[in-house]
Order: sequence, then structure tokens, then C-alpha cells
Amino acid sequence: MSDPLQYFQSHETDYLKKLKHLVAIPSVSFPGFEQKVVGECGNEVKKLFTEVGLENIQTFPGGHPERPYIYGEWLKAPGRPTVLMYGHYDVQPPGNLDKWQSPPFELTEKNGRLFARGSADDKGGLIANLAAIDSILKSVGSLPVNVKILAEGEEECGSGGLDNFVAKNKSLIQADVIIITDADNYDEQTAGLTVSLRGLISMSVEVQALKQPVHSGLLGGPLPDSAMALSKILATLVDDSGEISIPEIREMVVPLSADDRQELSSLPFDEHKFRDESGILPETKLRCSAGEILEHLWFKPSFSINCFQASSQAQAGNVVVASAWARIGLRTVPNIDNEKAKQLLQEHIERQTAFGLKAKVSNVSVGTWWKTKTDHPAFKQMEAALAKGWGRASVKIGCGGSIPFVQTFTDALGGAPALLIGVCDPKTFAHSENESMSIEVWRKSVRSLIHFLSSF
Ligand code: BES
Ligand code: ZN
Repeated sequence: MSDPLQYFQSHETDYLKKLKHLVAIPSVSFPGFEQKVVGECGNEVKKLFTEVGLENIQTFPGGHPERPYIYGEWLKAPGRPTVLMYGHYDVQPPGNLDKWQSPPFELTEKNGRLFARGSADDKGGLIANLAAIDSILKSVGSLPVNVKILAEGEEECGSGGLDNFVAKNKSLIQADVIIITDADNYDEQTAGLTVSLRGLISMSVEVQALKQPVHSGLLGGPLPDSAMALSKILATLVDDSGEISIPEIREMVVPLSADDRQELSSLPFDEHKFRDESGILPETKLRCSAGEILEHLWFKPSFSINCFQASSQAQAGNVVVASAWARIGLRTVPNIDNEKAKQLLQEHIERQTAFGLKAKVSNVSVGTWWKTKTDHPAFKQMEAALAKGWGRASVKIGCGGSIPFVQTFTDALGGAPALLIGVCDPKTFAHSENESMSIEVWRKSVRSLIHFLSSF
């Protein structure tokens, strides 16, 4: 068989079996989860690289020794361009197990979707890259381009080892173009080529007033309440509409350009579909009008309290809690200076007092936003490949999520274009319970990658 698309079609189930195998390894990279398991998943990825026939397969330490980078290459097309492909094999924690309709680490098919943690973000993306390379190699026997492929094991916890890895291995990863298969599609029928990402500033904030929780009847009154104090402090971060209230951060946000506005308004948008896909309850109002949703998602900062903990639901006795802890995140956009915004945010929090209590900030992380020009010919070629793979024109999209190292890669590769595609769609629910990947979206993504690699 010499047609890679046909080869892919007849071996699709084999590739999905590999996905099932990877998904079964709960490679949660968050601190507090067993990091050894992430390393085990890395080993399986290494085996998959070998099965595809990649060469010079190597592992490099990540920010944690059990979260290695796995590298492989196929460089037998001298004089032809080199493509660096990226995916990550670590996943988010599963969240609330009771909310999963099938076990989080067991790939389960339902209505054309494959449910499991990491099915789409990003084990499905990683397998898509491998399936495309494998289908060409096993059918044609060789690739028309050189390929380097990198799998990361610590993307979901901030890519702590990436700067070091890139700095040490600059020549190993040199390429003419980067394909990052870790992003979204506009919908199940329309491929997205992501041209902007938001950044992310995260920090933990804690207020502690007491040594231990005490009886709220016997001692409540004279004692300041830590949970209330933290609530008050966090509430100062946004105005009544939920917009970040720190003026210096607001002022750094650039208004949408006429071109961006034009791109946004050309995208078909259905508010009801958005409400349905976002999981918002029928009685909950959106914070903006339907016409502003995409702008808010892609080009405006947004502030979230990711976790607020003062006691546990199961043990919510009549107590004055001793302390309260929150993890907060600010999604940033052009042209917010992330380091400056981090400083402003931290200083603002540390300045506040509530009932005389102050909050301590720790574990601060900063990931930058990214926005690319699209005049390099690789963008047109990817658009052509997506059109062939999906049987329909793709759209350029922004993404509200963050992949902070895209800029690190392009810088290390002397400004090489980064093409962000992926196997997620609005029904994926990445990071949430019941994450899933549409088999058809995955299929179309693999086909597009085959077209791209065959024609770049
Ligand atoms: N792949 C996601 C980002 C994403 C999700 C893009 C869904 C498009 C659709 C990525 O793995 C991710 O979640 N990134 C983190 C970055 C953080 C850990 C610095 C994020 O956005 O929270
Ligand atoms: Zn991801």
C-alpha cells in the first residue's frame, strides 16, 4: 500500500489502541501525584516512538527527573525542510471522580467520542502526530520532509524544565517550522489554526489567623475569620462586573485591531450553542453580550479563583476556621507585561488587610501570552492541509488557554513559524470531568497532518 491516507484508514483502530494504552497510565504531573507514573508513561511514549521507526530516540530530564522529555527524529530527507512536532503526555488531575460517567483513565467510546482524562489534551494530539508519521513511513517508506518530534511530561504543571531543555538542546531541535498539536478547533466541523494564546499568572494566597479551628459558638466573635478575610481580599481584585480592577494591568491591554475585529466578526457564532457547550446553567447570565464572547475569550484578561479552601465540605462543623487558602489565576493578553502584572497583582494582594489580617502569596508562576503574524508561507500550507483533511476551509482562531513555551520555541528556532492545531473541540471539556475527544475530529486532524507532511 503506497497511499498514507489509505494506510491510516485501515490502521486507525491500531492507533486508537495505542491511545487507550497511554490513557490508562494516570500521568498527572501535578505535585502531590505520583511522579513515577508520569515517568512510566514517558517510557511507553518512548516505545511508541520506536514502533514508528523514529531514530536517535533520547530522553532528557524535565524539571523533575520523572517527567522526561522524549525526543525522536527521522532525518533522511537531505536538503528538505525540517518539521518539529510537539505534544505532551502528562495530564491534569481527574477532578471529582463522582462526576465522571466512565472511569477517567479508561478510554470509553460513546456517541463517536472517546472519554478519558487526556484523551484530547494531549495524548490524542500526541498519537495524532505519531499516526501521521507512521502512516507515511509504513506506506510510502520515507517522508518527504525531515521530522523531529518531542513529547513533554510536565506541560500541565507549567513546563518547569523547558527553558533549560531548549537552551541545552538548541541544535537538536532546530527546525524550519513547529507544529504544536495541543490546541482547539472552532467546532467539530471546522478546523482551527490557533494564532493567539492567552498567558497565565497563577499564585497561591493564604490568610491564617489561628493555630487551629475552634468552636464558633465558644470563641466566635472576638476572633477574626480567615475565610471571610481572604474573601474580602480577593474581592478587591475585580470590579462589580468581574473585570480585573488593578488599573495598571487594565491599561496594558491593547484594544482589538480593525483586522482582529474583522476576523472575529467573520466567524459564525451561536450564543445558544456556546451556552450549551460551556455548561452554564440556564438561569446564569453571561458577563458580556453574545457579540463580545470571542473577544472576551481570546483578547481580554480574565480572573479566576481556581480553588478556595478553608475547611472540607464533609467536615463543615460549626467552627471558626484557622486559615483559608486560594489558588488564583489571571489570564493575560497582548500587551500585558507579564512580569509587571505579576508584581502588581502580588503587591496589591499583600497591601490589603481585612480585620487586620494580611494574605501571604506563594508559588507564583508566570506564562506569557502569544500572538503570531501569519505571513510565513507555512500558514497557508497548513490551511491547505487542514482544508483537505477536514473537507472544508479552516478558520484562524485565538485561544483563551495558555501554552507558554510557544514563544520559547520560536525564539530558540530563530523565529520559525509555530502552527498550532489540535484534536480538541468545544465539547472536549479539557481539564474538567468527562473530557472527551471526537473520533472524527481526531481522524481529520491526522489526515491534515499527513497532507501537511506530504506537501510542505
Ligand atoms: N492544551 C491545553 C491548552 C488548550 C486547552 C488549548 C484546550 C486549547 C483547548 C494546555 O495543555 C493547557 O491546559 N495549558 C495550561 C497552561 C498552564 C499549565 C501554564 C492552561 O492553559 O491552563
Ligand atoms: Zn494540553
